[in-house]
Amino acid sequence: MSNITSDKAVLVTCGLPYANGKAHVGHLRTYIPADIYVRSLKKNSQEVTFVCGSDTHGTPIVVNAEELGITPTELVSKYHVHFDEVFKKMGVIFDAFGTTDDDTNHRRTLDIVDRLIEKGYVYPKTIEIAYCPQCDRFLPDRYVAGTCPHCGEKARGDECDQGCGKHLEPGELKEPVCTICRGPAEYKEQEHFFFKLSEFKDFLLEHLENLGGTLNARNYALGWVKQELTDWCITRNLEWGVRFPDHDELVVYVWVDAPIGYIAFTEQWAEATGGDWEKFWKGDCPIVHFIGGDIIYHHCIFWPAMLKGADYSQPSAVVASGMVKIEDKTFSKSRGYVVWVEEDYLDHGFHPDLLRYYLASYTSHTKEVNFSWKIFQDKINTELVGVFGNFLYRNLLFAYKNFGSVPEGDIEPEVMEKISSTIEEVRKANSEYEFKKAADTAMALASYGNSYFQSSEPWKLIKEDRDACGKVVRNCMQIAKALVLLFEPMTPGSMEVAWKQIGMDSDVHTASYDEASVHVLSGTELMKPEILFTKIEDEKIAEMEKISSKRVKAAMAKEAGIKEAEIMEYKAEIEYDDFAKLDIRVGRIVTAEKIKKSKKLLRLQVDIGDDEPRQVVAGLAEHYKPEEMIGKTVNILVNLKPVKLCGVESQGMLLAADAGERVSLLTTDKDMDPGSCIR
Ligand code: MSP
Ligand code: ZN
Repeated sequence: MSNITSDKAVLVTCGLPYANGKAHVGHLRTYIPADIYVRSLKKNSQEVTFVCGSDTHGTPIVVNAEELGITPTELVSKYHVHFDEVFKKMGVIFDAFGTTDDDTNHRRTLDIVDRLIEKGYVYPKTIEIAYCPQCDRFLPDRYVAGTCPHCGEKARGDECDQGCGKHLEPGELKEPVCTICRGPAEYKEQEHFFFKLSEFKDFLLEHLENLGGTLNARNYALGWVKQELTDWCITRNLEWGVRFPDHDELVVYVWVDAPIGYIAFTEQWAEATGGDWEKFWKGDCPIVHFIGGDIIYHHCIFWPAMLKGADYSQPSAVVASGMVKIEDKTFSKSRGYVVWVEEDYLDHGFHPDLLRYYLASYTSHTKEVNFSWKIFQDKINTELVGVFGNFLYRNLLFAYKNFGSVPEGDIEPEVMEKISSTIEEVRKANSEYEFKKAADTAMALASYGNSYFQSSEPWKLIKEDRDACGKVVRNCMQIAKALVLLFEPMTPGSMEVAWKQIGMDSDVHTASYDEASVHVLSGTELMKPEILFTKIEDEKIAEMEKISSKRVKAAMAKEAGIKEAEIMEYKAEIEYDDFAKLDIRVGRIVTAEKIKKSKKLLRLQVDIGDDEPRQVVAGLAEHYKPEEMIGKTVNILVNLKPVKLCGVESQGMLLAADAGERVSLLTTDKDMDPGSCIR
């Protein structure tokens, strides 16, 4: 694993959150380790700039806004603010947090696209684009769903999100369906613009060989480049996005302007601080991208090729995390497999540092994480509370009670040695993106501190030899100081408090690891310590597990086509009399036709054994064609108060089994005459 150790300034970025939904714990696996990395670089006195912003374009945002009846701008501003707030609450502090709809990004994108055109890397080509004849529109990306041509799983327009994970080009999806009206889509010819990705094969092979970061990113990308590199369609038929030059009906594909956001946000940082953005993007100061394993292709193939083509510097490292799952399902906001950061975590009163610690230390960065409240509780209770918190508190309390200030006494060489070797190991682990190793190594120093305290028995010494006791305490204070520095990147909020508790008045966030070898000053006054980390009770975890499992069950039910409400809860008990009030009869459908103004409604005449048939309006047009309903035997509630639907009177209600996507009329097992009673 190659690492960035540089005397030059370093730029760190995080995969931009889509501004079309709330922050979940899966997202945090990009942002928290990146923040830890940035903080640890600062602890090495490294100059570092940390930028991010909202990804505001692309079809999911347009589709979502359309469904909510608001503009894309309104939608993205809401979630932009949300992410900005959640990041701050979680202690993830960016030097700039912009949006890809900012002018800076529009301009930078146009600059790059123009340059690619100028250099002959972009060409027009007529291709087949999914088109919906009912809605009379082209269907870019999320507007179309279908089957993945590579693995046969259900897929979205531009991505096989449930199967092999491949990026899909327009026209590749099999059995396309329009996601607006759910009707079958067609392929229709249209001119689009392509980026000559295939010309970058040799460049990419070399670039990837030298790419730092985690090996998963490099190796996956190398595998893909070696297999095949097809040219990349970079335009879409949309209103929302960055306009493609000289074509008013086209915008650039969101994966063109989104990563360019990294440059734009660096420019915004530079403008605000008087910094220099070009030293990264046109110079040789390293750029490190933190992302999740789901977007390696975009960051290791499209992005460096685009940068190279437009004469910009390319990333030095791509750090790709394993995906966060819940009960083995990849997080998905649309499907409901999700643990929300605010609603399911912060709002329940958990300290942000606990989740930071869990995410950093649970497993190595490139491995998958199955989010588990139990493991979360266990890691917090045994490690953060039982080992680290315990050491800090018992030592500080003892010092405060017996001395009131940092006592005199030599720091033992063995203690100093243990501290500096730990710092070295943690430094190295962080620089190699081994955040778990860094956490474990720091925790091992806390264990060492506990054994040192325990075996020195200061509670006995204080009665026999106050000076010897003071020496033990001072050594413990030195260990505590090192620990606070080592844990600051992981648990910054708590370490701010701990730093004060050990009598330091500087800023722990800007203090460097080198401070760990500066002896704690004897005579420094100590305050009465507070407990920093408290045990999470079993009941609390049971409550959280209930919330999560309810959500997952509902998501699974939704996938199985059962309505959430039905699987979750039964209705209240009723008396037979309540049931007996319903007059349900056998009926036979005589005529059926669509109601013009409505997508869902059918007007039916149903023979219920009377002289005249009953007129019933049924919301079945999405499930039955009118002609297939005629002659069917049905069950009809005939004493329901008539209502007008779309101007047509309905004098009864057909009974049907409703599982969301699938709906089936109830009929009778034997052929029964119209008018027969149902009880
Ligand atoms: N907008 C794109 C990234 C564009 S970068 C130029 C995107 N957005 S996202 O909101 O879906 O994800 C934001 C970040 O969180 C990305 O780094 C992504 O990889 C990461 N993750 C989102 N869900 C994740 C998990 N379930 N698990 C781990 N990381 C995940 O992708
Ligand atoms: Zn697939």
